[in-house]
Amino acid sequence: MPWTEKDFIFKDNHYPSNRLEITEEAPSNIALVKYWGKYGLQRPMNPSISFTLSQSKTITKAILTPLGKPANKVSFQFYLDNRHQPAFEPKIARFFDLIHRYTPFVFQYDWQIYSHNTFPHSSGIASSASGFAALAKLIMNLEKQINPYQNALYYLQKTSFLARLGSGSAARSISGPVMLWGEHPQIAGTSDLYATLPDFDLHPVFQNFKDSIVLVETGQKKVSSTAGHALMDQHPFKNIRIQQAFDNVIKMNQILKTGDISHFIDIVEAEALGLHAMMMTSRPNYILMQPGTLQIIHSLRQIRKEHNIPVCFTLDAGANVHVLYPEGEKNKLQKIFFDNLEHKIIFDYL
Ligand code: PMV
Repeated sequence: MPWTEKDFIFKDNHYPSNRLEITEEAPSNIALVKYWGKYGLQRPMNPSISFTLSQSKTITKAILTPLGKPANKVSFQFYLDNRHQPAFEPKIARFFDLIHRYTPFVFQYDWQIYSHNTFPHSSGIASSASGFAALAKLIMNLEKQINPYQNALYYLQKTSFLARLGSGSAARSISGPVMLWGEHPQIAGTSDLYATLPDFDLHPVFQNFKDSIVLVETGQKKVSSTAGHALMDQHPFKNIRIQQAFDNVIKMNQILKTGDISHFIDIVEAEALGLHAMMMTSRPNYILMQPGTLQIIHSLRQIRKEHNIPVCFTLDAGANVHVLYPEGEKNKLQKIFFDNLEHKIIFDYL
């Protein structure tokens, strides 16, 4: 039986009273079947599946100083690359507010949080998934020091549960190489509360996949994903999109097991375009793709046809293009595709 919210409430009241330094890291992830739309407290309207981007991580260190008596707000400061970043703090404060019920020991310390991403920041790549997952791992590291008696799966699922409360997609940034988040009636053990590992081995075809990101646009997102998710509530195509994602999760599970790369390409691209189609048909609507996004999509499709290379694209909530391909195709793609682009490319994101 999947765990419930109640199972994650921490009851112990003994805490280490010394200064602690804890470091944890978490990978980024890219959704193959997209999460878009949420309900309640960060629960997804539909299940999603992602590849874990193990080369692209957030590494976070926290220096914890015991306060003597618990505060009623978590006391913390956040640094990115050793620079204090007050702009990130409201989102982290909200995260602490949401998780303190499950991890009341966070009140016992002052937190100095130092984060670093292994991928370039302000490159237009979301770091919230890996960032909140790293923070959740850190908090669970502390919980384990206080209470080492739970089983490993409990710690994994509670880490995902906490990460989800920071950013939905962060739920999937805790393990890999594939993660599934969201309850699906046909897949045992799945939950809206946390992401799970699939119950099969990833087919070898996908084990050496690469994700290179073509940076069409850098900087701040024009429309936050929070606003985008909210527009799904009244979306005219809401039900059909939800059904499509439930179906695609089943198909993708099968594909990842059997190594059916041509169906992989079909679904991954349909999901990316479907996500953007939702944005373009909501009220109000908005367009995140840029001319460069379409240009890259067209040339990738042409290259796939002309050179018979199993390469495809996916998109996040932004204009940048994730190019997915088997490692063995890298040199060929470099010559006929990447070298001809004027955009900056981040290789080996996966
Ligand atoms: O985790 P959020 O709330 O930033 O939502 C991210 C949603 C997408 O990246 C667009 C899709 C996904 O499943 O990651």
